[in-house]
Amino acid sequence: AHQWRGVIHEYSDRLPVTENTRVVTLGEGGTPLINAPKLSALVEGEVWLKFEGMNPTGSFKDRGMTMAITAAVEQGAKAVVCASTGNTSASAAAYATQAGLTCAVLVPDGKIAMGKLSQAIAHGAELLQVDGNFDNCLDVARKLSENYPVFLVNSVNPARIEGQKTGAFEVVDFLGDAPDYHLLPVGNAGNITAYWKGYQEYAAPYVNPHPGTSDEELPAVATKTPIMWGFQAEGAAPIVKGHPVTEPETVATAIRIGNPASWEQAEAARDASGGQIDSVTDEEILDAHRWLSSKEGVFVEPASAAGVAGLIKHHGLGNVPAGKRWVITVTGHGLKDPQWALKSADGSDITPKQVPFDVVSVAEALGL
Ligand code: F0G
Repeated sequence: AHQWRGVIHEYSDRLPVTENTRVVTLGEGGTPLINAPKLSALVEGEVWLKFEGMNPTGSFKDRGMTMAITAAVEQGAKAVVCASTGNTSASAAAYATQAGLTCAVLVPDGKIAMGKLSQAIAHGAELLQVDGNFDNCLDVARKLSENYPVFLVNSVNPARIEGQKTGAFEVVDFLGDAPDYHLLPVGNAGNITAYWKGYQEYAAPYVNPHPGTSDEELPAVATKTPIMWGFQAEGAAPIVKGHPVTEPETVATAIRIGNPASWEQAEAARDASGGQIDSVTDEEILDAHRWLSSKEGVFVEPASAAGVAGLIKHHGLGNVPAGKRWVITVTGHGLKDPQWALKSADGSDITPKQVPFDVVSVAEALGL
């Protein structure tokens, strides 16, 4: 039986690797593209969820990390560093461990979800809680990598974008063409950059990137590129506001970022695709999070619901045409940050019903 081999092996003809590359992989990618019947009915179209929570460490970061750690090993690295709101640190720690590298991570103090913190620690990362936000952490991580022998594995590292572009390849390979629209959350803006790159590459004729192997040109895989819609959290929406936010705030801690590193690339994807980058409130994010778990059967962390929140918001505004095909990347697993499932829409705590140890009481409690 065929087992998915991870994005580098599956897409080696489109990635900067050679036959001699020692690939560091945990079998990332190949994630399900799930049809969302309730969202489809809402918008009178076809809505698909690219469920990136199904990656080995539970987020899309693994697609980029297999490339970044593979490249670091190829260049003789002994140690890597990243700044993170949580998922990047979990991913970097896991891949660095497999490669035998030391991994240092800088996270904003008190603002990272327990699941992610546990992962980084379990994989043996040197985890430092910084008295500052993500943007401060990234600043320090960059300077550290410039002045000390450590490789930076944030998405400013081009290898990360190369790996993450495979998300777009998988969507097209599965659907047979690009969707009309692609929606996703925007934090540091690496992922929107990567998807746009992947879609563009698939919509252009293929030229083998490996010198000397073949100069054959193949036809494009996709007939078009999608319109890109990115969504920031309202309290952390620098691209929407047009200036950095010095004190970003949102329940969606993964995208609590005030000065995205790939700001210009995100705007380029927006403009070239005829799309938009907009914001959604924490309430809209949590509503979308609840919609996904209670109506579609898909459990994500709050930040991951920002794209769905954006679709619902713009449907309400009358901006969502009927009869279109929508793909929304839901970026991380709900088990990363499960506490939100135990809150109802009005903010009250949800606690399980207690029942005595007999069938009649259980049946009664179930309303049977
Ligand atoms: N969704 C989740 C679950 C994330 O963890 C992130 C980013 C994003 C969306 C936004 O993606 O930064 O490429 O625009 N998390 C980073 C981290 C910042 O450190 O884990 P982006």
